Amino acid sequence: MAKLVINNENKKSTIAPEIYGHFSEHLGRCIYEGLYVGENSDIPNVNGMRTDVVEALKEMKVPVLRWPGGCFADEYHWMDGIGPKEKRKKMINTHWGGVVEDNSFGTHEFFELCRQLGCKTYVNANLGSGTVREMSEWVEYMTFNGVSPMADLRKENGHEEPWVVDYLGVGNENWGCGGNMRPQHYADEFRRYQTYVRNYNGNKPIAKICCGPNVDDYHWTKEVLNTCFDHTPEHFHGFMDGLSLHYYTLPETEDDWNVKGSATDFTEEVFYQTLKRSYFMEELINNHGAIMDQYDPEKKIGLMIDEWGIWTDVEPGTNPGFLYQQNTMRDALVAGMNLNIFNKHSDRVKMACIAQMINVLQSVMLTEGEKMIKTPTYYVFKMYRHHQGATLLGSDLLNGGTVGSGKNEVPKIFESVSEDADGVITITLTNNSLESSEDVDVQLTKDGGAYNVCEAVYVTGKMADHNTFDNPEVVKELEFKDYSKTSEGLKITLPACSVVSIRLKK
Ligand code: AHR
Repeated sequence: MAKLVINNENKKSTIAPEIYGHFSEHLGRCIYEGLYVGENSDIPNVNGMRTDVVEALKEMKVPVLRWPGGCFADEYHWMDGIGPKEKRKKMINTHWGGVVEDNSFGTHEFFELCRQLGCKTYVNANLGSGTVREMSEWVEYMTFNGVSPMADLRKENGHEEPWVVDYLGVGNENWGCGGNMRPQHYADEFRRYQTYVRNYNGNKPIAKICCGPNVDDYHWTKEVLNTCFDHTPEHFHGFMDGLSLHYYTLPETEDDWNVKGSATDFTEEVFYQTLKRSYFMEELINNHGAIMDQYDPEKKIGLMIDEWGIWTDVEPGTNPGFLYQQNTMRDALVAGMNLNIFNKHSDRVKMACIAQMINVLQSVMLTEGEKMIKTPTYYVFKMYRHHQGATLLGSDLLNGGTVGSGKNEVPKIFESVSEDADGVITITLTNNSLESSEDVDVQLTKDGGAYNVCEAVYVTGKMADHNTFDNPEVVKELEFKDYSKTSEGLKITLPACSVVSIRLKK
């Protein structure tokens, strides 16, 4: 039997709510159709935002939303997306399917969406093809409360009050689609651009996110920190508040983007291989984190994993540039495992945005016309929402064993544990085995017997189980009943291929 020892006296880092963040790009049907249908649509909406989608997202709890890209960000010129919609410029979305972008969703619509969701805002600005002036004026337009050309323009366009920009990305993937820069060059550009990102009127300072590495490009991390980290007091902890990291799990290959594999049709071997590739996230956090520690031992800069998730082949018959993929129990396990990893590294990981929110890559929801379904990944985010803002507790999983063989071996059980402000303990676990359930003896180091289960839910199924528009509830959140109390905590049985959340209260 596996044993989970929870040291509830060992209170560790705060789990930043932003670890449960999302990413929405002008890509395929993420923004248009997924989130935004326009005010005149027959699909019920509030100011153009789909009501069904917004309501479901609120239930799942979205802490932060990143927009407008991705690669799109470094080609986005924000002025094209403001003012009367009929006058907004139409452009070609060169990255994603070559379709016409009519700019009907722009700055005002983004802030309206975040208002409806009640989430923080993460605007990714254009460094690759934009100018310093353009970035600086966008910040002025969004945040300046006074008389100035950009604030006046915002008011003319119907928004008197400034908005709050919580995070600003200074470019995206500038080692690739954001300009193919070398680290030294980007680092100098970052220093320059971020200089003109002003904090107006004593506003809450905008947290600036510097473009970090692609996967395991440790050279990039080192070079960028070398140039941008500054120990002098006037720069506080350097020029940045966060360094991004992008890592996608490609099921069938390490780096051949032509053979990613199907989202729903895969073998058991590929299932375990997917988990193994996804588990690589922990090594990336450790290694990039170790480099960051050399500059920033107090961990003031966050590692912002603002793009992560499974990237498969698109669904047959769909536009290859739209990145529309289905979402199975395999996705649920990948989500559960990664979120547990992020929680456990919450001393350094301060944000993570799954790619992408809806209809693109590993989404939490899919839409087809007026229909909307929740994916297995949705339920994992919903079950894990109690970790947001809670305190990580020390936990050790003993005798859990492994699954998968040879190079695909991964731990069978993954866990993380937190305690919220009311003293409620949330335990989230994945059982990565396709074959066997696992008994787990959960022991708390203090007052174990005094705790009772106040909520227990789970998702389970076969590895490729997924929801469709005809059958939307193949995978859904169920009540978890397979537990009993012990003098030190409880005993639980995790079903094979499951993600479980158990909450304990004294
Ligand atoms: O999420 C899809 C794309 O993946 C993003 O636009 C880009 O940043 C990354 O390469």
